[in-house]
Amino acid sequence: MIANRPERIRARIQVPGDKSISHRSLLLNAIASGSATIERPLDSADVRATANCLRALGVGIDWTEGAEQVRVEGRGLHGLFESEDVLDCGNSGTTIRLLTGLLSAHPILSILNGDASLRTRPMARVIAPLREMGAHIHGRTGDTLAPIVIKGGGLRAREYASPVASAQVKSAVLLAGLYADGETTVREPAKSRDHTERMLITMGAGLRGEGAAVTISPAAQLEALSLRVPGDISSAAPWLVLGACHPDAEILIEGVNTNPTRTGLLDILQEMGAKVEVLEERTTGGEPVADLVVRSSELKGTTVSGELVPRAIDELPLVALLACFADGETVVKDAAELVVKESNRVEAVVRVLGAMGARVTARDDGFVVHGRQPLRGASVDARGDHRIGMLAGIAALLADGETRVANDAVEVSYPTFWEELREAAEGAAAR
Ligand code: S3P
Repeated sequence: MIANRPERIRARIQVPGDKSISHRSLLLNAIASGSATIERPLDSADVRATANCLRALGVGIDWTEGAEQVRVEGRGLHGLFESEDVLDCGNSGTTIRLLTGLLSAHPILSILNGDASLRTRPMARVIAPLREMGAHIHGRTGDTLAPIVIKGGGLRAREYASPVASAQVKSAVLLAGLYADGETTVREPAKSRDHTERMLITMGAGLRGEGAAVTISPAAQLEALSLRVPGDISSAAPWLVLGACHPDAEILIEGVNTNPTRTGLLDILQEMGAKVEVLEERTTGGEPVADLVVRSSELKGTTVSGELVPRAIDELPLVALLACFADGETVVKDAAELVVKESNRVEAVVRVLGAMGARVTARDDGFVVHGRQPLRGASVDARGDHRIGMLAGIAALLADGETRVANDAVEVSYPTFWEELREAAEGAAAR
C-alpha cells in the first residue's frame, strides 16, 4: 500500500546496474578466454537466471548473495558443457533468446524453459533464423513457444532481415554468427539497443555496423572483459517521470547509462517540455554515462512513433503516465511489440491507469492518452510484470488517495524499488 501524494519530493537516487549490460557481461565473458570481474551488476531475478543457466553449462561464476562484484571464469568459445537439466530462464526474455543463439552454435543438447509468462512469448523470431543457419532447433506449438530444444553446431553464415526491431533477436543471431562459416549480417527495421555489439568489439570480435544493419565475422577467441556496469536508464525512468509530473519535485539520478539506442525517453521528455538536465557525461566500459536531474514541469502532449519506439520500448508504459499530466493528446504508435512483453503492456496500461481515472484507449500498435485528467488511488494488479508494477508505484505518488499494487514483480529488475520509493516519498534522500 502506498500513501497519498507527498507535498514535495527531493531525492538523490543511484539506480541499479543496467539489466541488458549485466546479462551480456555474464554471457559474453562465459565464452571468453580468461576470467573477468564485473562490478555492480544488477542483482535481480532476471540476471540471476542468466548466471544460473551459465553455471549449469559449466561456467564458473562466483556471485555471492549481496556481493558488489561477480567473477566469471571464461570457458573459451567452445568450452560449454551439456547441462544435465533443463535451463530455467525464469521470466527473462533476454536470457532465453540470447542463450538460444549461443547454444545453436554448440554441438550439445539444450532445453530452455521459463515461467508462465515466458512460455507465452514469441520464440519463432529466434528459432527461424537460427534454424536457417543450420541449428537443429524446435519449440512448442509449431516451433513458436518455449520450451525450446536445441542441438547446435555447424552453422552457415547468412544475411537476415528481421521483421522486428529487437536487440534480443539481433543478439541471438550475432552470437550464432561468431561461430558461422563466414560473415553474418542482421538488418532491422529500426536500430535496437547495441550493447552486444559494443561489448563484442571491445572483446576483439570483428564487427561493423551501418545504420540499422550489423555484420559479424567468425571469431577465433574473445578476450575477457572486466567492467563496471552503469545504472539502468529503464530504472531511472520511473524517477524521471515522477519528477516531471509532480508539482514540487527535484530528483538527481546518478550514473545512468545514456547509450543513444536507449535514450528515447529523454527525447520524449524534451519534446513534451520536461525540465531534464544531463550532467557530467563520461564513459565506463565502452558505454556513455551521465547524471540526470529532473524538475517539476509543464508538459504538453506528443506523438511517439518510428525509430523512437525501440529506443524507448521499456519506458512506453511510463510515457502514458507522463501523458496524463500533459496538455492535449499523446499518441504512441508503431509499438505493437508492447503486446508481447512480460505482459500485454497495451492492455495493462489501459487497465491500470484507467482504474486510476486516466483517459487511455488502446490501439493495435500502442495507445492514446487524453491529458490533464486527475488520477485517484485504486487497487491495481501488475500481474507479474515489473514495468507495470513500477508504473503503478509512481502513479500512486501522483494520485489523490491510496493505491494498492498486487503482483508487482519488481525483483525482476529493481529489487529495492519500493524501499527507495518510500524514502523519496518521505522526503529523505534515497541514498
Ligand atoms: C532487451 C531488449 C528489449 C527489451 C528488453 C531487454 C535486451 O527486448 O524490451 O527489456 O536486453 O536485449 P526486445 O529485444 O524483444 O525488443
